[in-house]
Amino acid sequence: MSKNILVTGGAGYIGSHTCVELIKAGYHAIIVDNFSNSEKFVIDRIEELAGKSVELIEGDCADERLLLEKLSKTKIDGVIHFAAYKAVGESSKDPLKYYTNNLNSTSSILKVMEELKCENLVFSSSCTVYGQPDQLPVTETSPVKPAESPYGRTKQICENIITDFIDAGKKLKALSLRYFNPIGAHPSAKIGELPLGVPNNLVPFITQTAAGIREKLTVFGSDYDTKDGTCIRDYIHVVDLAKAHVKALDYLLKKEGSLYDAINIGTGEGSSVKEVVDTFEKVNEVKLNYQMGDRRPGDVEKVYADASYAEKVLGWKAELSLEESLKDAWRWQKTLKV
Ligand code: NAD
Ligand code: WQD
Repeated sequence: MSKNILVTGGAGYIGSHTCVELIKAGYHAIIVDNFSNSEKFVIDRIEELAGKSVELIEGDCADERLLLEKLSKTKIDGVIHFAAYKAVGESSKDPLKYYTNNLNSTSSILKVMEELKCENLVFSSSCTVYGQPDQLPVTETSPVKPAESPYGRTKQICENIITDFIDAGKKLKALSLRYFNPIGAHPSAKIGELPLGVPNNLVPFITQTAAGIREKLTVFGSDYDTKDGTCIRDYIHVVDLAKAHVKALDYLLKKEGSLYDAINIGTGEGSSVKEVVDTFEKVNEVKLNYQMGDRRPGDVEKVYADASYAEKVLGWKAELSLEESLKDAWRWQKTLKV
């Protein structure tokens, strides 16, 4: 019998890729999503790519009653909790929207897990919890810095909610995966990122500019203390990231008792904005209209992962290159244009 994994936000960007990898690894995926930032066709695409069906609970994962009603007869072996709002800029304009959704959904999921006696949780955290780290590459023992945005703060608080729950003696094994910068799309170009409105993130902005949807990319800052003056990030292919979730579940399911750990999920390589732009142009043989501009408030200068702990604990490491990520991102963008 396949193990049942509840995937909150499973129709979203990272969730959809993770569902495909989960099913390919022999798990059964039950998605709960309210489609607040995703589209229903994604469910069909997941099934097409995985060659198996998924179960869908359409609704809010903060709705404990709905989840308990739908899941009372199912043994849930693990939960991957992706569901959250994630737009950094919007979170500064409408903080309560972020606190309400991101915190309520996390506490609700923990209550549902307790009720259903499910002890395995993988939580979507972010490298944003480190702010600008004092030392690079950043390890998991680096201090969590005051967040730059309400969004970032929700990730810090959710990590704390989970550890408080465990400290209170509840039976839970939980891993917070701290993602660096997820980019790219499934190589089939059947699933990928669906940004709403004007993208904040670099790669969707690049692909939309190349597609003619945006006129010009502005590189935010060219006077940083980096190799070419532009900011450095650790860009990780979303399929590699998806596979890290499968490894995290495999790991939790083998462990006994309660545990908590936070694990960086990145490539370990820092790339500058300029390098991303140049690589995009080169691998896709397209010219990008871009200009250097002012710094974006709140941006950290450089951050990239020490990814060795993920390899040690989970036996996972990133396999796909920046070149492959940017090719897949462009292939996906072209499917959206038609
Ligand atoms: P996404 O918006 O594409 O996916 C989130 C999904 O959750 C969407 O399908 C949305 O409809 C759903 N959702 C939101 N609130 C919900 C609720 N209350 N109930 C049910 N469904 C709900 O985002 P993503 O990029 O796939 O991110 C997934 C997770 O990873 C988020 O928690 C995000 O904060 C985290 N994260 C993302 C990044 C990134 O750059 N994409 C980086 C670090 C961490
Ligand atoms: C990357 C680089 C920009 C757009 C954000 C969140 C973080 C995490 C990942 C969820 C930066 C530059 C961008 C543009 C640019 N998400 N850039 N022109 O800021 O590293 O992280 O997404 O947890 O929490 O803060 O990602 O893609 O926005 O920016 O020059 O139009 O690209 O300045 O250096 P960031 P990003």
